[in-house]
Amino acid sequence: MAIRVIRTKEDPALREVALEVKKITPQIKKLLDELAETMYDAEGVGLAAPQVGIAKRLIVIDVQDENGLLKLINPLIIARKGRETTPEGCLSFPGVAGEVERDETVTVQATDPDGNTVQICASGLLARAFQHEIDHLDGILFVDRVTSLRIAENSEAGREEV
Ligand code: NI
Repeated sequence: MAIRVIRTKEDPALREVALEVKKITPQIKKLLDELAETMYDAEGVGLAAPQVGIAKRLIVIDVQDENGLLKLINPLIIARKGRETTPEGCLSFPGVAGEVERDETVTVQATDPDGNTVQICASGLLARAFQHEIDHLDGILFVDRVTSLRIAENSEAGREEV
């Protein structure tokens, strides 16, 4: 396993539209493990493969709730409800935070590393992390959606980087 370099800011890898994963190979499983290791090392709550320069539809999320670590392949939002605006950050934009309007509750369907189809209904931080990470798979960054941006001197309470 290895900790990968997280791409930042204007890196073109962050703008690529990631490709669907057709087959779960040992390399795909290893990559998910490395994404998780990289996310924990950076003290984030989510990471998407394009953030480490790999244009595949893979995300990892751990918002430290009962779901634990989620390693998901080809995630899709299949239902959404409500809207809310809260502060958000991104591991690819260290020290930057901003208010982003997102769906309040989402249902995500994905494939897990064992090839099972899973559905997860999420609200709060987990719902936000899903939307943020799935955006990364489409080359969309939170700074594209932000309504007010600010530069933080340090990590601030109430904002998680994803
Ligand atoms: Ni991000």
